[in-house]
Amino acid sequence: MRRVISAGLTLALLVAVAVGVGDLKPAPIRAVDVFHRKCSNCHGKEGSMLERGFEQKYASASELREVVESMPGAIGMRTDELETMVAYMRAISRGEPFLIWTVRGATAIEGEVSPDDSKVQARAKGQGLKVVRAAANRWRVELPRGVSLEDVEITAQRGASRTTLRLREAPYSHTK
Ligand code: HEC
Repeated sequence: MRRVISAGLTLALLVAVAVGVGDLKPAPIRAVDVFHRKCSNCHGKEGSMLERGFEQKYASASELREVVESMPGAIGMRTDELETMVAYMRAISRGEPFLIWTVRGATAIEGEVSPDDSKVQARAKGQGLKVVRAAANRWRVELPRGVSLEDVEITAQRGASRTTLRLREAPYSHTK
């Protein structure tokens, strides 16, 4: 019995280490690309046909998730993928730029921004990082040696509206 318990504890410890700080993960899906391919036929480019403030019709985050889950383009999506889409929906509802980190490379990270005319900037501990726009909705940030993901902050500015994404907090903005 004791051996079983200690095996369980060891496993719990391993899991804790695996998901612990220092192991930041990108988002499970490319929400902006998914929306473009599966949702924009009905809801317009970058959600332009969705009503501003629509999230207020839903009493809770789970109600909003249920609507997204019921959409034709959402068939087969996992919960973490739905949550990511819901975050993008909040940004659209609020008319704010949405930022999401989607790829973790050895020397660079990549992600998406929506709307595509938002200006993207990145920095770590006050140091500006180079941002490349590979495509209208995509960005890529080179990570110089010594810069850790925990310190990276991406901002998207569009008119007076500004969104900041701190990778140590979440892989995408509008989690609430
Ligand atoms: C075939 C057309 C169609 C597609 C594709 C579609 N939707 Fe919808 N969507 C609708 C219709 C119609 C409504 C309004 C009726 C309703 O609330 O069920 C709606 C409502 C919504 C709402 C609530 C808007 C509001 O004003 O309350 C959200 C959010 C939403 N869709 C997101 C998505 C997402 C995300 C996708 C892709 C994964 C998607 N939709 C794909 C037709 C579509």
